Amino acid sequence: MIINIEITQTPDAEKLAALHAECFPAGWDAAAIRDILHTATTRAFVAPDHAGFGLLRVVAEEAEMLTLAVGRSHRRQGIAGHIVAAMYAWAQEQGAHAVFLEVRESNEAARALYRKAGFRETGLRKGYYPTGESTVLMRIDVK
Ligand SMILES: CC(C)(COP(=O)(O)OP(=O)(O)OC[C@H]1O[C@@H](n2cnc3c(N)ncnc32)[C@H](O)[C@@H]1OP(=O)(O)O)[C@@H](O)C(=O)NCCC(=O)NCCS
Repeated sequence: MIINIEITQTPDAEKLAALHAECFPAGWDAAAIRDILHTATTRAFVAPDHAGFGLLRVVAEEAEMLTLAVGRSHRRQGIAGHIVAAMYAWAQEQGAHAVFLEVRESNEAARALYRKAGFRETGLRKGYYPTGESTVLMRIDVK
């Protein structure tokens, strides 16, 4: 299946916020999403029909994935994989040398997704969340 990912600095922030709230216990509102996108080198990567989206920021030679979410009814169709691939290509165009992200230790789905995309786990921040849960640091070198 071909999934075209739109790369934009001015997405429909309300729709992205609704999706974020569906995917995370503390979803970001539209204002927060617009705020993040004010930085010149931050982009939203949006799947068709707002089935999923991610935010990526490039600073100097490093890219950071800020969030990634796919709606429940659209999962396991390769959408997140396409978003991550589009992020990687854009980071490469911007001259980034690596893409970094953090993921909850218990989030097996996301960790499997990132490993499949070529990320490796580089560290653990113990007790990072108020619940005491740890976060895993991951990176992929951009070639
Ligand atoms: C994690 C998430 C983004 C995956 O989105 P998705 O579009 O379903 O992922 P894809 O279909 O592209 O999956 C690609 C690969 O990731 C892995 N994967 C995805 N979901 C998985 C799951 N629930 N269990 C195990 N592996 C999974 C698989 O290897 C999969 O390949 P396969 O389907 O050929 O086996 C989605 O489940 C989600 O939005 N979760 C809630 C928010 C979240 O956790 N975001 C990440 C925060 S860091």
